[in-house]
Amino acid sequence: MSQKNIDQLQEKIKNAHLGGGEKRIAKQHEKKKLTARERVDYLLDEGSFEEIGILVTHRTTEFGMDKQKIYGDGVITGYGTINGRLVYVFAQDFTVFGGSLSETHAEKICKVMDLAVKVGAPMIGLNDSGGARIQEGVRSLGGYADIFHRNVKSSGVIPQISAIMGPCAGGAVYSPAMTDFTLMVQDTSYMFVTGPNVVKTVTNEEVTSEELGGASTHSTKSGVTHRVAINDIACLEDIKKMIGYMPQNNQQAPEKLPYELGDELRPKLDELIPDSSNKPYDMHEVINGIIDEDSFFEIHKDYAENIIVGFARLGGRSIGIVANQPMSLAGVLDVDSSKKAARFTRFCDCFNIPLLVLVDVPGFLPGTDQEWNGIILHGAKLLYALSEATVPKVTVITRKAYGGAYDVMNSKHIGADLNFAWPSAEIAVMGAKGASEIIFRKEISEADDSEAKLAEKEAEYAELFATPFEAAKRGFIDEVIMPRDTRRKLLKGFSMLEHKKVLRPQRKHGNIPL
Ligand code: HXC
Repeated sequence: MSQKNIDQLQEKIKNAHLGGGEKRIAKQHEKKKLTARERVDYLLDEGSFEEIGILVTHRTTEFGMDKQKIYGDGVITGYGTINGRLVYVFAQDFTVFGGSLSETHAEKICKVMDLAVKVGAPMIGLNDSGGARIQEGVRSLGGYADIFHRNVKSSGVIPQISAIMGPCAGGAVYSPAMTDFTLMVQDTSYMFVTGPNVVKTVTNEEVTSEELGGASTHSTKSGVTHRVAINDIACLEDIKKMIGYMPQNNQQAPEKLPYELGDELRPKLDELIPDSSNKPYDMHEVINGIIDEDSFFEIHKDYAENIIVGFARLGGRSIGIVANQPMSLAGVLDVDSSKKAARFTRFCDCFNIPLLVLVDVPGFLPGTDQEWNGIILHGAKLLYALSEATVPKVTVITRKAYGGAYDVMNSKHIGADLNFAWPSAEIAVMGAKGASEIIFRKEISEADDSEAKLAEKEAEYAELFATPFEAAKRGFIDEVIMPRDTRRKLLKGFSMLEHKKVLRPQRKHGNIPL
C-alpha cells in the first residue's frame, strides 16, 4: 500500500473527528456540554466503541450545501459495550449543522437500529439536534419517519433509551417519545414540537425555552422525561445504571447478581405504619426496607408523586416496583399516576422483569377535573397493564386497599401470583366513615346523638371490614405477614416464580384503552 493511501485515510478520519470544527466544539464546551464523541467515549467501556459510517456525507447540493460536506454528517453511530454488555449507540453532533437530521444522517441511525434488532441488544440514542435539516426538506422528513417506524418495530423487542442532551425540536422529539425511557439534562436540554417563536406567532403566548420544554417542565408537568440529570456525565451514568436492570432483549431474563441468603428479617418495618390510618408515611421506607441495599432506581420521581415506580434488586434479581405513596395525595390513583404506572408495568412485562406492587391506596381521586380528563380511560390503562402482564407478579398491601383501586393494584383477581397483606391492611369497598354514612343513614339520622351513632357504626364497620382477614378468609390474600418478614417472603416468592410461564390465546395485540 502506498503512503498516499495511508495519509489519505488518516486525513479523512482526522477531519471526521473534528466534526463541525474547533470553534463549534469550544462553543459546545462553553455551554457545559460534552461533544458527541466525548459522550460516546464516556458511555461505553474504554476502547470498546466501533464506529460505523464515519465517512458518510450528505447528498444535498442546494443552498451551497455541496461545499459543506462534513464526514459523519452530524451523527456518530456504532456499537460497543457497557459493563461488558453489547449496546448500539448513536450520538448526534450539534457542531455539524446543529445535529440536524438529513437523509444520510437518518440512514446511519437506521443502520444501527436494524443491527440492534437483528442481534438483540439495547439501542441508545444521544440526542442533540435542531430537528429536520432545513436545507433537505421532505428528504429529511422521510428520514425521520424511517426512524419512527423502526422505533415502533423495535418496541418490546429490545430496550430503547433516549438521552436528550441539547435542544431537540420538531421531529427530534418524536423518536425519543417512542422509546422506552427518555432522560434529560438540567439547563442544557429542551424538547418541544415547536419552539417559543412559533408558539408566540400561533398562540401569542410568551414562553421561554426552559418553561416550554426544559427538563423541569418535562419531569414535573408533562411526564415526557423519566429522569433528569445535573449534567452530561450524570446522564450517561444513569443510562449505564439503568441498562443493568434490563435484559439484552425480550427473549432473555435480566442479569441476576450473585446473592446468598442471610438474616432477611427487617424489624424496623414493624414500626412504620402510623396508628392513625389518616397519617401518611413514606413508601420509600417500605421499598428500601425490602430491597437489596441502595438498589432502588426511581423512574419519574417528580411526576405524579402519588405513585412510585422504579427498578430495584431483590436477592440480586432485577424487579420493577409499583407503589402507592401515602405522602402525596394520600396515595390516590388519578390520571397521571395511572398512566405512569401503566407505562412502567408494560416495560417490565415486555422485558421479563418481575413486578412487585406495594399497595396503600384510598381509591380513585374524585372530581370534575379527573372525570373530564378521562380518569375512566387512564385508570383502565393501569388495570389493563397489570392484568395483561405475565411476568411474576407479587402484591403486598401495607394499609389501604379500597374500592376499585383494590382490584386495580395487582389483586389476585387480575392475575397476581402471590398476595400478601400486613396486619394493618384495610381491604374494603370504602372507608368505614363513608360506608357507615351510607348503609346506616336512617339509624344515624334517627339517633338522639347522631355523631355518637356514626362513630359507633364506623367502629363496627372498621372492625369487620377494615382488616385483611375477610380477604384472607376467601383466599384473595394468600398470607397475612408481619412487615419484618416481607423481604424473606418476597425472596422466596420471586424465586419460586422464576420459571413462571403463561400461555395466552393467539391474537395480533390487545386493545389497551388509550
Ligand atoms: C439545518 C440547522 C438546523 C436545522 C440548527 N442548524 N438547526 N441547520 N437545519 N434544523 C444550524 C444553524 O444554522 C447553526 O449553523 C448551527 O446549527 C447551530 O445553531 P444555532 O441556532 O446557532 O444554535 P442555538 O442558538 O443553540 O439554537 C439551537 C436551536 C436553533 C434552538 C436548535 O438552531 C433552532 O431553532 N433551529 C431550528 C429548529 C427547527 O425549527 N427545526 C425544524 C423542525 S421541523 P452554523 O453554521 O451557524 O453553526 C421538524 C419536522 C420533523 O423537525 C417532523 C417529523 C414528525
